[in-house]
Amino acid sequence: MRGFQLKPLRSTLELNLSKPLRYAPMMDLTSPESLETLVVLDYGSQYTQLIVKRFRKLGAYAVILPSSASLERIMAENPRAVVLSGGPNSVYDEHAPQLPIGLLESGLPILAICYGMQLLAQTLGARVEKSEVREYGHTTLSDYGGALFEGCEGAFVAWMSHGDSVKSLPEGFELLASSVDTPIAAMAQPEKSIYALQFHPEVEHSPQGSKVLANFIKLVGLSGTWQAEHIVEKLSREVKAEVAAQRVLLAISGGVDSSTLGLLLHKAIGDKLVAVFVDHGLLREGERVYVEEALRSLGVNLISIDAGERFFKALEGVSDPERKRKIIGAEFIKVFSETAKELEGYGHIEFLAQGTLYPDVVESAGGHGAATIKSHHNVGGLPERLGFRLLEPFRTLFKDEVRDIARVLGMPESLVERHPFPGPGLAIRCLGEVTPEKVAILRQVDHIFISSLKEKGLYNSTWQALAVLTPIRTVGVMGDGRTYSYTAALRAVSSVDGMTADWSRLPYDFLAEVANRIVNKVEQVNRVVYDITSKPPATIEWE
Ligand code: XMP
Repeated sequence: MRGFQLKPLRSTLELNLSKPLRYAPMMDLTSPESLETLVVLDYGSQYTQLIVKRFRKLGAYAVILPSSASLERIMAENPRAVVLSGGPNSVYDEHAPQLPIGLLESGLPILAICYGMQLLAQTLGARVEKSEVREYGHTTLSDYGGALFEGCEGAFVAWMSHGDSVKSLPEGFELLASSVDTPIAAMAQPEKSIYALQFHPEVEHSPQGSKVLANFIKLVGLSGTWQAEHIVEKLSREVKAEVAAQRVLLAISGGVDSSTLGLLLHKAIGDKLVAVFVDHGLLREGERVYVEEALRSLGVNLISIDAGERFFKALEGVSDPERKRKIIGAEFIKVFSETAKELEGYGHIEFLAQGTLYPDVVESAGGHGAATIKSHHNVGGLPERLGFRLLEPFRTLFKDEVRDIARVLGMPESLVERHPFPGPGLAIRCLGEVTPEKVAILRQVDHIFISSLKEKGLYNSTWQALAVLTPIRTVGVMGDGRTYSYTAALRAVSSVDGMTADWSRLPYDFLAEVANRIVNKVEQVNRVVYDITSKPPATIEWE
């Protein structure tokens, strides 16, 4: 896949204290429970993670390895089959990535997608031609058949994005599907369980694509047991075995990942978990109490630290966004380290648990070197510095999977479905210097906006919504008097993962009502504006 691609920043939603990780075997292969996997080789497609997500949704555990992985490395994952992703290259490029040596001889079933298919065909001696024009967009397969398409009905709309095309079938292959522009749109050698698709079955624009992937799972004999209940059981067992009788410290940020991790660890090791919620004074209205109550009512051993004053002191006189972020990150580490030391006094703590997710693991291993647009809470080396061993039970999971297991663990739906909230909190939504007074104003504005969204049933259809307190003051009129007060900005976006976003077309009447409520209830604000920029070029947060 060519096309515009924004390199994601690392973990966006949670405090992430990890240092870069490398591709490492995800499963304990010595365990009798070790899962058979689908290994997805990443040829650089922007959809590689999506392929993995789709397979997992269908119950098949899948992991990503770089296309340069050796066969030995692939075999270490206990693979049942290998999927070759799409990618931006042409097979004719000078340094076009190749198939791992020995893969075709290994007897492993293969599903090759887009670039993967062209590479497979070329390697097997078939004709692959460079097209003058890249085919991009919807295509309807004029003809399709075979076990891979079983259960598909009617017009098969397929999403294509390719420059090269396979022009002849490799020896022993049969044709499975054609379209007007792509006579060889799918092919297979069923005796060897090798299948290839020119289109992208993983994207929503191929509505029957999921069926094709499900058929592949069936054809290669995967059991489809990767379900939330199963994941919870498996992770609990693994955590129990790793932690044994030791104690574990966990930083709770209030987000879904760390809260769910708290619940999982509580289930696995009970009181050996000490969860610490650092309240930096930059949280939303009622947020701390809400998270505390939810976790405590589920039995989690949670300590809250009131650190607001320290954070405001550290932020005094600072208005540069990057400096604010750095100061908050550093202060967080200080508070957390001090707390950890104190807790050590009550008994040794061996592990620090983190809610690192799979995209972090994959992205840090990819090493694409994205520019730092905003520094998030990535504080490398903390566990080592504090002398802890690292425990990252979610390092094989996607956010959706964490949400699924949160439900299995009994987390209230309102907490599971909460909008993302950044680690530095309201500080990066309070432009200019951060003071307790300004944060209090912003908290009120934010609360009115968010609770109105909930009241009108718009909260869940919005990916993220937030309020910003700008330093701009303008003239207004209230009653008979002139006002000169702050301008607040509202932002609501639709997004899939926060990497790109579009502004939400909230109803005008709703916006009018919210603006009214804000100006009437929050004395220091006399003007409300709505942000209508997408990301890119803007970002979601204003700082
Ligand atoms: P931007 O502003 O970069 O935000 O478009 C993308 C997503 O990331 C969240 N965000 C953060 N999350 N620590 C976090 O945990 C941070 O420092 C941070 N900065 C931005 C933002 O809320 C949005 O969901």
